[in-house]
Amino acid sequence: MISTKLLVVVPFVFAAVTAGAADLSPVETLGKKLFFDPSLSNPPGQSCADCHDPSVGWTGPDSAINAAGAVYEGAIHTRFGNRRPPTAAYAGYAPILQKCDCMGGGGMGGSQTCSGMCSGSMGGGGMGGGMGGGMGGGMGSGSSGAFMGGIFYDGRATGWTLGDPVAEQAQGPFLNPLEQGNPNAKHVCLNVMRTDYALLFEQVWGPGSLDCVKNVDGTYERIARSIAAFERSGEVSLFSSKFDTFWKNSQGKMPPVPMINSMNWTRFRNRGLSDVELKGLAIFNGKGKCSTCHTLQPMNGSALPLFTDFGYHNLGIPKNPANPFYTMPRKWNPDGEKWIDQGLGGFMAKTAGIESSSGASTDYTAFAAVNKGKHRTPTLRNVDKRPNDQFTKAYGHNGYFKSLQEMVHFYNLRDVLPLCKTPNPPTDAMGGATCFPAPEVDENINRTQLGNLGLDQADGMALIAFLKTLSDGYVAP
Ligand code: HEC
Ligand code: HEC
Repeated sequence: MISTKLLVVVPFVFAAVTAGAADLSPVETLGKKLFFDPSLSNPPGQSCADCHDPSVGWTGPDSAINAAGAVYEGAIHTRFGNRRPPTAAYAGYAPILQKCDCMGGGGMGGSQTCSGMCSGSMGGGGMGGGMGGGMGGGMGSGSSGAFMGGIFYDGRATGWTLGDPVAEQAQGPFLNPLEQGNPNAKHVCLNVMRTDYALLFEQVWGPGSLDCVKNVDGTYERIARSIAAFERSGEVSLFSSKFDTFWKNSQGKMPPVPMINSMNWTRFRNRGLSDVELKGLAIFNGKGKCSTCHTLQPMNGSALPLFTDFGYHNLGIPKNPANPFYTMPRKWNPDGEKWIDQGLGGFMAKTAGIESSSGASTDYTAFAAVNKGKHRTPTLRNVDKRPNDQFTKAYGHNGYFKSLQEMVHFYNLRDVLPLCKTPNPPTDAMGGATCFPAPEVDENINRTQLGNLGLDQADGMALIAFLKTLSDGYVAP
């Protein structure tokens, strides 16, 4: 549906657009202008890029914020959102939010990726056993309640209305009172009319396509689809990391990359990764179990791995008490200090009455409990991309973790170290936490694939060396 529109439109304007966008198509160029335009907020001054900056891998560009609460202020500077900005790159590959058919033998076309999740989330359901039992009758046995697809940490940009989760996502921030803060779509539309790229808009989408009187909804949809096109473009989703070079050099060679392990890793030499990076990849795909969720197989129309299963898991990450959302006025946060991020479960609880454009039933309220605390697996592409080594990035939906070391330490030892009561645990001589605070949501935690991995210091360092090869813009020395 989307691609047909673009196919019709793109040739029509090809000649009209000139300098400045050598590698971008006209609709991508338009999307780029919208993405970087600070005049599209209320009050003016905030663009998408303020929270999704290319120099940080399209995430939050303020090191001091990342080091603390990790959530960003909106166009009105006293207002803060409740989650940390994830990368806007590679999101374009996410399928529409759907329930995994864990019983059927691949009955659902797009659910090949669900297979891992079905077993994974069943195994991890230990904590929610009481609840799961109660739910089971209603759902039919064998149904795990696993979901995949959608955008945002909780999947609420489902793709159910526009057929494209990323386009639906792009409709959110402009109207979010805690982000760009426009009162309505018409306000955004009128601002776009005043820009110097209003002409380009009508060149891309046709005469009369920028209509803020008779067709605000249609225009707002075109704004969102243009941004989605930019996010999918070769300027945002680059596939130009050191790992990508290695992947391309591996084509046609045996063994294939997804087969790498601690026994055979030396056979992957001379394809572009160093020995320590190869060892790290072998751990990623073996002892570390990372690739069970950060998938090493290309999926969903991508020729290269995306490092996500598009699925939802509760890792048991603690709260980030430095998040200013806890002290936001009741209007935005009625729960105050007690607020917890319920992830996919929180969204599922609100799905009654949502209409999908296909007419399919999307009432998933019965699956809210088994998905409480689960967040979508992010891509790991650009996970270490930063302006310099002193720059702090935050990790996880609430930015609790401040370095890859801290994250790997948590994956490795979550279930080995004791629980601690202070939000900032004491550290050992190597700088590693000696205990972890309680999980934000103590239900549905995955205990089969993480928590006690048995990685030693050298393993952890190799794993991190590998994660650093996922930054785009790699230039071979
Ligand atoms: C004030 C900061 C802020 C602004 C401005 C902002 N975002 Fe975001 N963005 C976030 C946060 C926080 C999230 C995660 C929210 C969630 O999951 O509930 C997010 C999520 C996303 C995602 C989803 C990524 C994923 O994998 O789930 C995309 C794509 C995105 N933003 C693009 C945009 C675009 C396009 C704009 C401008 C129209 C924009 N953002 C404006 C903070 C911001
Ligand atoms: C059970 C599935 C699963 C496994 C196994 C797993 N991850 Fe994750 N990973 C996730 C999910 C889900 C998140 C987001 C969690 C959240 O924000 O609450 C995540 C987040 C991350 C992040 C933070 C990324 C960001 O942008 O915030 C890093 C880094 C990471 N994982 C690395 C790893 C490594 C390294 C391993 C192996 C040691 C691993 N993961 C194993 C599911 C998994």
